[in-house]
Amino acid sequence: MRKEPFAMFSRNRCLIALAWLALATSAAVAHDFGRTATAEEIRLWDIDVRPDGAGLPQGSGTVARGRQLFNMTCFACHGENGVGGIRDRLVGGIGSLASENPVRTVGSYWPYATTLFDYIRRAMPYFAPGSLSDDDTYALSAYILALNGIVAADAQLDRTSLLKLKMPNRDGFFTDPEFAALKWPQ
Ligand code: HEC
Repeated sequence: MRKEPFAMFSRNRCLIALAWLALATSAAVAHDFGRTATAEEIRLWDIDVRPDGAGLPQGSGTVARGRQLFNMTCFACHGENGVGGIRDRLVGGIGSLASENPVRTVGSYWPYATTLFDYIRRAMPYFAPGSLSDDDTYALSAYILALNGIVAADAQLDRTSLLKLKMPNRDGFFTDPEFAALKWPQ
């Protein structure tokens, strides 16, 4: 018989892997791992803010504070005043989306201010997502909205005032008829 050490080796490995798989998925073993997450663990992960404002925390922040923070932590990627950086442009382009040269920014595209808060708190700054406090996230949202002319330069935002804002492109979104009849889980 021709010697095939390598083939034999991998056949053995295959059998061992299969045996492990059978064991791990067998009814006797499969349910017996992990534990229920504690309320505290769930609280740390459960930070999403919905378009209707559900999940917006207490706290507040001013445009002035947002400007300071932006220039320290966001400027490098998003540019001075949120324009001309190496990453997404955040400011301007309002009313341009249907034109020949659409400019997609927070001001021109985003339908809700609430989800701007959500996105910044969860995803930015890019190198340290989740590091911003709630107050600082309100401040940064206020600054970006002020740069877009959506709030005044001396504004202060909290959950109530953020929820009241109507973004310029709020009515630019509609539900595709194909999906309109679907029932989403609440
Ligand atoms: C290291 C680079 C970097 C830094 C610093 C950074 N960002 Fe970003 N930002 C990005 C990138 C990349 C994206 C696009 C991410 C994607 O599309 O998945 C983005 C996207 C965004 C968007 C969404 C833009 C859109 O219209 O889709 C916002 C808002 C934003 N950043 C805010 C901030 C704020 C506020 C800070 C400072 C706290 C910050 N960013 C710091 C790289 C950065």
